[in-house]
Amino acid sequence: HKKGFIFDLDGVIVDTAKYHFMAWKQLSKDLGISFSEAQNEQLKGVSRVKSLEKILAWGNKTISDEMFENLMAKKNEEYLSYIAKMDASEILPEVESVLVFLKEGNQKIALGSASKNARTILSKVKLLHYFEAIVDGTNVKNAKPDPEVFLLASEAIKINPEDCIVFEDSIAGIQAANTAGMLSIGIGNEKVLHEADFVFQNFSKMPNGFLMSLINNEPN
Ligand code: G6P
Ligand code: MG
Repeated sequence: HKKGFIFDLDGVIVDTAKYHFMAWKQLSKDLGISFSEAQNEQLKGVSRVKSLEKILAWGNKTISDEMFENLMAKKNEEYLSYIAKMDASEILPEVESVLVFLKEGNQKIALGSASKNARTILSKVKLLHYFEAIVDGTNVKNAKPDPEVFLLASEAIKINPEDCIVFEDSIAGIQAANTAGMLSIGIGNEKVLHEADFVFQNFSKMPNGFLMSLINNEPN
């Protein structure tokens, strides 16, 4: 059976979620807005524009459009300064062996990310060549939890949504996968990602044979 495996990037393939967090935290601090870990969970998977809108709303702040643009640019500059130092050692556990397993099994692999930095990061950690399609913040109009990003990915790899499996570390992303009619697999904390069909702390916690059972349509 040919399936489509769609990966989120930040927090699933690479540990860039911590860099987004550091950059948003600094920006909030500069604005005098407090910013908790729980609030950060709500920013995961959410586009840059939407994230800043949320932070401003939490802090009850309104700013000019010009200031908004400046803050977004500043956040990305800080984020990119962390990315510049990245290498393959920041690929999350077992991600590459999962990609190799799927590739060798002739499965379809796509990226479904809200990030506009997706290609830069994938090439930085040398994983770009595994992906048959990349749908990212430069292609998508509606941010997660809207299913657009995953539906575009399934179209690009020509696999029906019901035959697609999504790996996600964010609440918004799990909701997007569920709405798209795909199987959702949370990577991270099962309390946070309880809406997912399955949750594993990371890929190394995924049982042997789990991927094979998905490919073969076996019940888990
Ligand atoms: C991912 C991350 C978010 C980030 C978004 C946009 O979804 O989980 O934290 O805000 O991408 O990323 P970008 O690199 O375009 O700022
Ligand atoms: Mg993510």
